[in-house]
Amino acid sequence: QQLKAYNTFGISALAKEYISVTTIEELAEALRENAGKKLFILGGGSNMLLTQDVDALVIHVNLTGIEVVWQDDAKVHVKAMAGEVWHNFVQHCIGQNYGGIENLSLIPGKVGTAPIQNIGAYGTEIKDVMVSCEAMEIATQTVRTFTNAECEFGYRESVFKNELKGRYIITSVTFGLTKTNHKINTSYGDIAAELTKNGISVPTIKDVGLAISTIRESKLPNPQELGNSGSFFKNPVITIEQFEKLYLLHPQMPHYTLDDTYIKVPAGWLIEQCGFKGKRFGDAGVHEKQALVLVNYGNATGQDILDLAKNVQKAVLENFGIAIEAEVNVV
Ligand code: EPU
Repeated sequence: QQLKAYNTFGISALAKEYISVTTIEELAEALRENAGKKLFILGGGSNMLLTQDVDALVIHVNLTGIEVVWQDDAKVHVKAMAGEVWHNFVQHCIGQNYGGIENLSLIPGKVGTAPIQNIGAYGTEIKDVMVSCEAMEIATQTVRTFTNAECEFGYRESVFKNELKGRYIITSVTFGLTKTNHKINTSYGDIAAELTKNGISVPTIKDVGLAISTIRESKLPNPQELGNSGSFFKNPVITIEQFEKLYLLHPQMPHYTLDDTYIKVPAGWLIEQCGFKGKRFGDAGVHEKQALVLVNYGNATGQDILDLAKNVQKAVLENFGIAIEAEVNVV
C-alpha cells in the first residue's frame, strides 16, 4: 500500500501491510489476528516524516462518531472518536456553541492523535480542555480510560510519547466545553488585531475561530497544496542566564518567560536569522512565511527533508548555541 496520500508531508513510502479499521471491534480483531507483528498506527499522518518504507502492518484508525456524554446548563462533555478529522470536530463544536477549542481551529490531523503530542496553538492546548481519553491496549485489546492527569501532558508531550509509547491506541477523546460564559482567549499574537480589523470588539467563539483560521492560512501552508507537517521543530526552552547573554547580542529576539528559570524562544525566529526562511534545496524547503515549517515541493524524499532539518539544526546550534529538537515523529 502506498502511503503518500496518508501523510500530510506527501512523502512516497510503501507499507508492508495495511488495514483500515472503522469500529472498536474491527480494531480489536485486527490486533488479535496480527499479534506479534510489528505495527505502525496511523491517524491523520500530520505529524510524521517517513524516511523509508514501513516494514510493518499499518493500522489506519478510522473510527468516527461524535456524541454528548454529559451536560448541564453551563457545561458539556463531548466524546469524539479517534478518526474524526480534528478541524471538522472543532467546527462541529463551534456550530453547537460549545466553547473551548476554537483556538485550535485548522490544526491538521485527527482527534485521536491530538492528545499524543498535546496539540496547542494560540494559547490553548489539549490538556486545558480534555476530560479523559480512551485507549485500547495493544497486547490485550482492552479499552482503558485515561484521566487528564494520567496523560502526563507537557509542551507537545504526553505519556503516550514516553512511558507508554507503542502500547496503546487512542480510540476516543472526551472534551469538557462551555455552553455559556465562554472563556474567550484573544491574548496571543495577532488575534486581537485580526478581530479589530473586522470591527469586532466583543467576539464570539465563532469570531475567534474564524480569526485564527485567517491567521493560520496567512502563514501556514495548506498540506493539500504544499506537503508539510506544521511546525517541524519545538520551540526551545533555555535558561534565563543563557537568554540574557543572547539578548545582549540580539535585543530584538522574541521570547516568552515560563518561570523564574526558563524562557521559551521561537525556533522560527532563530531559523529565519540563520537565513533559511524561504530557501529551497531541490524539492525540500523552509516555508517562506513561517520558518518553523519544512515543506515538500512535490517529490522530496523523507531523507531530503531530514537532511535539511539537520542542516537547520546545525546552523541554529552554531549561531545561537541552542539545540532545537524535532517536533514531528521521524520514522
Ligand atoms: N517568527 C519569526 N520568523 C518566522 C516564524 C516566527 O520571526 O519565520 C517569530 C514571530 O514573529 C513571532 C514568534 O516567532 O514573534 C512566534 O511565531 P508564531 O506566532 O508564528 O508561532 P510559533 O511559536 O512559531 C507555535 C506553534 C504552532 C502554533 C503557533 C501559534 C510550536 C512548535 N509551534 O509556533 O504550532 O500554531 O505557535 O500558537 O509550538 C504546530 O505545532 O504544528 C504548530 C503549527
